[in-house]
Amino acid sequence: MAFSFFHLLCHITIIFYEVHAANEHHSRHASKPESKSNIKALFVFGDSYVDTGNWRKSVGGSWKEPYGITFPGRPSGRFSDGRVLTDYIASYLGTRTPTAYQWRKGVKRSNLKYGMNFAYGGTGVLDTLVSQPNMTTQIDYFQRLVQEEVYQKQDLDDSMALVSVAGNDYAAYLARNGDDLQKLPAFTKTIMKQLGINLERIQGVGVKRIAVTLIEPMGCIPLQAASSSYKNCSEVFNLGSKFHNQMLKQTLQNLNQKSNSTVFVTLDLYNAFIAALNKLRKRASGSLGMKNPLKPCCEGKEKGKYYCGSVDGSGAKQYSICENPNLSLFWDAVHPSQNGWHTIFSSLRSSLHKLIT
Ligand SMILES: *[C@@H]1O[C@H](CO)[C@@H](O)[C@H](O)[C@H]1NC(C)=O
Ligand SMILES: *[C@@H]1O[C@H](CO)[C@@H](O)[C@H](O)[C@H]1NC(C)=O
Ligand SMILES: *[C@@H]1O[C@H](CO)[C@@H](O)[C@H](O)[C@H]1NC(C)=O
Ligand SMILES: *[C@@H]1O[C@H](CO)[C@@H](O)[C@H](O)[C@H]1NC(C)=O
Repeated sequence: MAFSFFHLLCHITIIFYEVHAANEHHSRHASKPESKSNIKALFVFGDSYVDTGNWRKSVGGSWKEPYGITFPGRPSGRFSDGRVLTDYIASYLGTRTPTAYQWRKGVKRSNLKYGMNFAYGGTGVLDTLVSQPNMTTQIDYFQRLVQEEVYQKQDLDDSMALVSVAGNDYAAYLARNGDDLQKLPAFTKTIMKQLGINLERIQGVGVKRIAVTLIEPMGCIPLQAASSSYKNCSEVFNLGSKFHNQMLKQTLQNLNQKSNSTVFVTLDLYNAFIAALNKLRKRASGSLGMKNPLKPCCEGKEKGKYYCGSVDGSGAKQYSICENPNLSLFWDAVHPSQNGWHTIFSSLRSSLHKLIT
């Protein structure tokens, strides 16, 4: 059993590694603002759950078909068939999806006012199996732009930060250290220590509102659910998520106390994923929707050999796509589809509302 955890988590990183990023051009097609807020800019840090195009096109799986088929209709560097969490949050705030850091030089200066996305798929708080910038380096980039006065005090006052930590640290840890799950709680503490430092740095730069995602139920992502033919989530992995979240809430509470503020709020992806799953299960039983919401829409034809987006040596597609991605929860083995994010996001509104009012 432990062996398969090791194996599965390896794959998480591999897939996060394979997916990629989107640019300003695409974000113009994002949905209309949904609510008016006083937040004008969004600064994003983390991994593929929020990356909108930072991987280089030549290496990122997120720039390959069939990623982006729902939105914007072609690969856009997002690790999904369409929009990701960042897009929904920006839209809710009434601002635009911020420019991916990688594309900052190619966009009009006026577009930079919507903030910037420093997130890279596959990365973590610590170094992972990908060589993209970890969160420390992402914050270095942010700090440098503020030093260069690309963003000034007023911009920061009117901004919000979004920080995603979805599990690449764990995947890398298990890949490097073997499958000893006993040691995971100690590793969670190591992650929290660095994450706390990171969050204080973002606050120190001048951001007054910082939303941090609680980790999703890792046992429910298709990679883990595959072992039960997508019938069940892996309870052991979900326990790992719960422990992570307990520690994260404590970390944020300490940071809020330290600055006598409510700068930090959580976005509860754990319960939002579970609620989305239940919603889609209900729909499935009523013959609308996919029969099994834990099954990803896009899958490699041979497990372990091919992934969503894989082609063989002669360029032939080695993956299949479900009939209607709009009915799925998961796009690939680790990432929600646009419909998944849309459904998940509906549970996050109230937390966001609290943050901006
Ligand atoms: C993040 O990456 C930088 C640059 O590679 C490295 O020096 C640093 O040790 C890394 N930080 C963490 C916390 O892993
Ligand atoms: C999976 O879920 C079903 C019903 O929801 C349950 O009967 C079964 O015992 C579960 N299997 C595992 C391995 O947890
Ligand atoms: C913390 O904030 C409260 C309410 O804003 C205020 O009454 C109190 O004096 C503050 N305490 C410190 C130590 O700044
Ligand atoms: C899927 O949803 C998007 C918007 O969310 C819509 O534009 C598109 O037409 C839908 N596709 C199908 C096949 O329903």
